[in-house]
Amino acid sequence: MTQSNPRISKAVIPAAGLGTRFLPATKATPKEMLPVVDKPAIQYVVEEAVAAGLSDVLMITGRNKRPLEDHFDRNYELEEALSRKGDESRLKAVQASSDLATMHYVRQGDPRGLGHAVLCAAPHVGDQPFAVLLGDDLIDPRDPLLSRMVDVREREGGSVIALMEVDPSQIHQYGCAAVEPTADGDVVRVTQLVEKPERAEAPSNLAIIGRYVLDPAVFAILRETEPGRGNEIQLTDALQKLAADEKAGGPVHGVVFKGRRYDTGDRGDYLRAIVRLACEREDLGPEFRDFLRSYVTEEMQRN
Ligand code: G1P
Repeated sequence: MTQSNPRISKAVIPAAGLGTRFLPATKATPKEMLPVVDKPAIQYVVEEAVAAGLSDVLMITGRNKRPLEDHFDRNYELEEALSRKGDESRLKAVQASSDLATMHYVRQGDPRGLGHAVLCAAPHVGDQPFAVLLGDDLIDPRDPLLSRMVDVREREGGSVIALMEVDPSQIHQYGCAAVEPTADGDVVRVTQLVEKPERAEAPSNLAIIGRYVLDPAVFAILRETEPGRGNEIQLTDALQKLAADEKAGGPVHGVVFKGRRYDTGDRGDYLRAIVRLACEREDLGPEFRDFLRSYVTEEMQRN
């Protein structure tokens, strides 16, 4: 177990997935680059890490992920063209993604699951606690979650996961936690974790959503974790070992999130995320809401 409690500065973002649910859009474009309104989904996630004070970002990528590196790098020709035109606001938007964080990339090579992706971060992370953010979950910046998790890690040590109550019929899509309450209303002690259980076997309706603050002890456990569900090395299985055996690098706490989360993992959720975020935008929202209102009225008249 790591005794010291250094400030967390590194974020790891697994981004090696093939994005098969969005084919053919993802044939030549990484799914992380699909726009959510006018920004690629992955930029929201990097912005969230930076907002929580984590400005060293490691992306775990794979083949065909070059556009991710280009997006967070300078684009001098484009910047030149925009500044010649005097288009300051677009110039700022283009520069924002390259100024955001210190980006690092490592390739996963042989994608063997989320646990394996996190293990690829070990040489970069070293012996420090670190955060993991999964790109399919967008957390509304008005409801900060990661900074709360960092606070809990700094107070309690060990690892901290993000949990959210879901309808029991949905729990088979998530890692699921058995928990005990703590003195803090939004913080629980995790006693057991199961990856994507059947509804009947789920110990609760608390789902892991894609934010983790991990003790570096997780790396040693991951090295010994056998492939689990889907024949993949599961991060949930490694965290279960930490939760069950405090000497291995526990404890594991959960922050129960009640804020706004947008799922961009499948096509229906992705569409809903775009509509919700577009409605809330100051520049696009008012007109888009008007459109939606008349669209819904027409739909209701038709049915
Ligand atoms: C992963 C994790 C799962 C977690 C989910 C959150 O699953 O393995 O425990 O609940 O992310 O989005 P995936 O959705 O990548 O299959």
